[in-house]
This record gives sequence, structure tokens and C-alpha cells, in this order.
Amino acid sequence: MVLHSPARRPAARNRDRARLTSHTAPIASCASSASAAAARARSACPRAAAAVRQHPTRIMTRHDRKDRAYVTLVATQNPYEVDLWGEHEKRAASTLPPHCLLGENLMSVDYVHGYSTKESARLTDQATTLTELLHADTLYPPGSLVLEVGCGVGAQTVILAGNSPRAAFKSIDISAESLAEARRQAQEAGFTNVTFQQADIFDLPFLSAHFDHVFVCFVLEHLPNPAGALQALLRVLKPGGSITVIEGDHGSAYFHPDSHHARRAIQCLIDLQRQAGGDSLIGRRLYPLLAQAGYRDVYVSPRMVYADAGRPALVDGFTRKTFTAMVEGVGEQAVDQGLMDEASWAAGIRDLYRTAKDDGTFCYTFFKAQGLR
Ligand SMILES: C[S@@+](CC[C@H](N)C(=O)[O-])C[C@H]1O[C@@H](n2cnc3c(N)ncnc32)[C@H](O)[C@@H]1O
Repeated sequence: MVLHSPARRPAARNRDRARLTSHTAPIASCASSASAAAARARSACPRAAAAVRQHPTRIMTRHDRKDRAYVTLVATQNPYEVDLWGEHEKRAASTLPPHCLLGENLMSVDYVHGYSTKESARLTDQATTLTELLHADTLYPPGSLVLEVGCGVGAQTVILAGNSPRAAFKSIDISAESLAEARRQAQEAGFTNVTFQQADIFDLPFLSAHFDHVFVCFVLEHLPNPAGALQALLRVLKPGGSITVIEGDHGSAYFHPDSHHARRAIQCLIDLQRQAGGDSLIGRRLYPLLAQAGYRDVYVSPRMVYADAGRPALVDGFTRKTFTAMVEGVGEQAVDQGLMDEASWAAGIRDLYRTAKDDGTFCYTFFKAQGLR
């Protein structure tokens, strides 16, 4: 997936589009196939149907197998443009990127946080701020092979690899662009115990019982089928091996001073994520999800972040740069969709930042689950 932040130079973007025209034309000109595939897309996936309705000119479809429709969305996801063209270009001869394969297993292309530079910085701030709280008890023995799933830009990878320098990590993500950044981060930090690979959780290119441990952080919340993901991961885990899953739960956020607008702004993020097929309240579901997927000895440990002026690093790293930045990131979508008006949204964000002042406080709970195969 190729993503461009609004800051990207217009000349570069126009050049990309010009290059891509030649690749997309043959598919677009296949009008009858395209409309048949679009019809199938609509019936196969309600989210695609909604997207087709909202962005009729921004959907390209093709079907190159009898029974499946592939859809590429070229949608503007405010505030960042989510653009699949580049990936499409690379893969036009084979299949479109797996994001585009319709099915309940796949993360929506409407990934609520996007893949912008700003979001990469937020993920790094989040991981760094929460290192002690979330990772202190995750240590892998020398010689063990660990699969990190949905590594993103490598924010957790460098912590894992640093804490367990003699374990070997295979870190995968569906986004080639995030992987490139993760690779850069790991190289910069001098880690030689991590390799990266582009792969889809639902189509893992590994033998059964291949890994000693699996680590998943902030990924299940974005998947329409987290139970299916956990089952897919169970297959590649050795008998006796462990899975560690860390997720948040936006319903666990409370703060002082309380604010109706701030609570509504958080609810917008919850609603938008649900609309995109995810569940930002997933933390509270980890126990049943793991147990039902077939893991044994499941244990969930809630990890509360509490920030007040006596903990300035948490106020800055969590209240401002992790949580409020995350909510703020969906502002345009929330307003565009009429979930909140612009003034109420601004008041909500202002009130969230207000909790980072000297007399403010902020609480949020993460859930860290472990289970065995
Ligand atoms: C919120 S980011 C979390 C990244 C990282 N784990 C962290 O905590 O900083 C979610 C990541 O999951 C990846 N992802 C989503 N669906 C995936 C799938 N089906 N297979 C592999 N990775 C996926 C996304 O590309 C994204 O990088």
C-alpha cells in the first residue's frame, strides 16, 4: 500500500498518477467485467457496498478469477490520502493487494488510523511511553523463534528485540511501506536478530508449528475477524508455545475535568473504527477470544495508565501524544460524516488536551493476554 501524507509534493503525486494511468486503463476499459465485479463486490461485502455508494468514481474493480471480485479503493481518507495505486501498479499483472480481496477476514482499507508519517510518529511515541507498562514481563528465551504480527513501523519490534537479544524475531505486516520503515528502525538500532516479511495474518506463509512464540500488539482491534486471526496464529505456534496479545479498550478512558464533548469525540473514534470493521473496545474481549480460538491457560492482565502532573512523561507521551493525538487523527472523518459538528469536535479535542494541564488527570486501561497452544 502506498500512502501519501498531504505534505507530499504535488509534482511527485502527479507523476505517480501519470505513470499509473497506463496500468489502470486496460482494467478500467474492461467495463462489463468491472461492473459485474462491482455488483459481486456489493453483495459480498457491505463495507464495499457503502464505499461504492460514497465514492463511485474512486472504485476500480476487476475480477480475474471466476469466483472472486477484487476491489481497489482509491479513496480519500481524511486527513491522509490512502492510495493503493502504487501497489496496484506493482501487482497489476497478478492480483491486487490482499487488502482488496473482499472477505470478512481482511482489514478494511478504511484502516481508521491510516499510515501517515504523523501516525508512524504516534505509534513510536505510544510504544516508547508504554514500554515498561506493557513489555517489562515479555522476555523470550535465547534461541527461541518469535513471530511478531502486524509490526507496523517497528515501534514494538525494537523494544522486543532489545529486551530479548538472543531470541530471533520474524516480524510481518501487510503494508510494504510500514515494513520498509520498520527495517530502517531496526537497522538504525543495530538489531541483527529481526527479519521482516510482508505477509497477511490470514494467509501465513509459514509451516505449521513453526514458531515458539507469537506476539500481537494493537492489531486485532482493526480486524473484522479477530477470532479467525487467532486461529490462524495457533496453527503456526508449536505445541506448548505462547501467544501474547496486547490491545487497548477506548471504553476504559476517563479523565478530569470530565467533558461531554471529549467523550463524544472518543465515541466518534469508536464508531469510525467499528464502521471500518474493527473494534476499539476489544481489550475486554481478549479472554473469550483466545479461549474460544483454542488457546489454553489464558491469562489476562489489565494495565492501567494513569497520568497526572506528577508524571509529566506520561502526560506528554500518553495523554497528549498517544491518546489525544489518536482521537484528533479522525477529526475530519468524524465531521465529514456528520458524527459531530466542527465546533463540538474542536471543543472535544480542546478538552482532551485540557486534561494534560497541571490540574488534569487521565486514565486508560490496556489488556495484555497470554495463552498457550
Ligand atoms: C495499529 S498498527 C500496530 C503496529 C504495531 N504492532 C505497533 O503496536 O506499533 C496495526 C498494524 O497491523 C497491520 N495489519 C493489519 N491487518 C493485517 C493483516 N491482515 N496481516 C498483517 N498485518 C496487518 C497494519 O498494516 C498495521 O501496520
